[in-house]
Amino acid sequence: MKTVLSCIQPTGDMHLGNYFGAVENWVNLQEKYKCFYGVVDYHAMTMPYDVNKLRTNTWDIITNLVAVGVKPENLFIQSLVPEHTELGWILNCFCSYGQLTRMTQFKDKSNQVKDGGKEDFISAGLLDYPVLQTADILIYKADFVPVGKDQEQHLELSRDIAQRFNAQVGKEYFVLPAPLYTETPKIRSTADPIKKMSKSAGEKHYINVFADEATIRRQIKSAVTDSGNTNEGSMAEGVQNLFELIKAAKWLTEHDQLMDHYQAGTLKYMDLKQVTADALVQLTGVFVERRKEINADKKRLKDLVKQSSADIRKRAQQTLTEVKELVGLLNVY
Ligand code: AMP
Ligand code: TRP
Repeated sequence: MKTVLSCIQPTGDMHLGNYFGAVENWVNLQEKYKCFYGVVDYHAMTMPYDVNKLRTNTWDIITNLVAVGVKPENLFIQSLVPEHTELGWILNCFCSYGQLTRMTQFKDKSNQVKDGGKEDFISAGLLDYPVLQTADILIYKADFVPVGKDQEQHLELSRDIAQRFNAQVGKEYFVLPAPLYTETPKIRSTADPIKKMSKSAGEKHYINVFADEATIRRQIKSAVTDSGNTNEGSMAEGVQNLFELIKAAKWLTEHDQLMDHYQAGTLKYMDLKQVTADALVQLTGVFVERRKEINADKKRLKDLVKQSSADIRKRAQQTLTEVKELVGLLNVY
């Protein structure tokens, strides 16, 4: 079985954009691949953050991932596998400073820090972020990394680092990780469908996967359908977005019926919104229930994920031992 690795940062709520755009894919990949899914708390320290929230956010995202169908045995917490940071250091020495400064995410995020106003502190961790990400991938010798467009450059870098490492140690040791592309929908903000759904734009710009029914219905009811800038003859972004959500929730028959109405010019936006809300409520209702069950015994899931992290760590330790041997470090403690 081929190996898949992916990671997510523990930052607050999970919204429908995250679910349909990334996490649902994680759930599906578990059927076909040996999957390692990490919650990368070390990565979450690279931007200004609240030390009182990180640990809670980590457990929250674990809970949310399991509630939507990720298997606990595939999950690990990055800081419970400290070999990632140790390999990260070693790989730093196989990556040039220039390569890191060219990463677009580094440029974007450092601008974000500067534009944030209060503090002008760009951590060395932010620059070094992609090397730790490379360690996340290479330590499990992952064949595939499911990526969105935003992570392509980082994955390319991890291949470069692996190649440089292999060349220097004179052995095809690391597997070069390949991107795994899956067609996933891009979900827009219902409040402003020109923007993508995201947390950073503010509360009304995203729909929490675990929102209660009334909130989801209210957010869909007030969804902007026609922003007024649409070209004659093309479907308004807000309308497209509602169709996209219905399709993403797999209400395909309803989707096609409504599309027929749209094409015949007889679609009532009220009906479109009603179906969207019904579809979303049905889907997320299952997740909300599962999360309630998990939260009724929080310790159980924590113990499971501590154990899976310990199991997964054995693989990481094996790789690190081999790497230390290859690069001339001592291996005895
Ligand atoms: P973020 O929370 O922005 O770091 O995103 C985490 C993951 O969710 C990334 O893989 C994104 O590609 C995906 N994602 C975030 N927002 C959206 C969206 N509006 N539509 C589709 N995918 C998204
Ligand atoms: N950089 C990724 C993001 O911002 C998160 C991440 C960290 C990751 N390590 C990874 C993704 C390894 C894939 C593989 O979303």
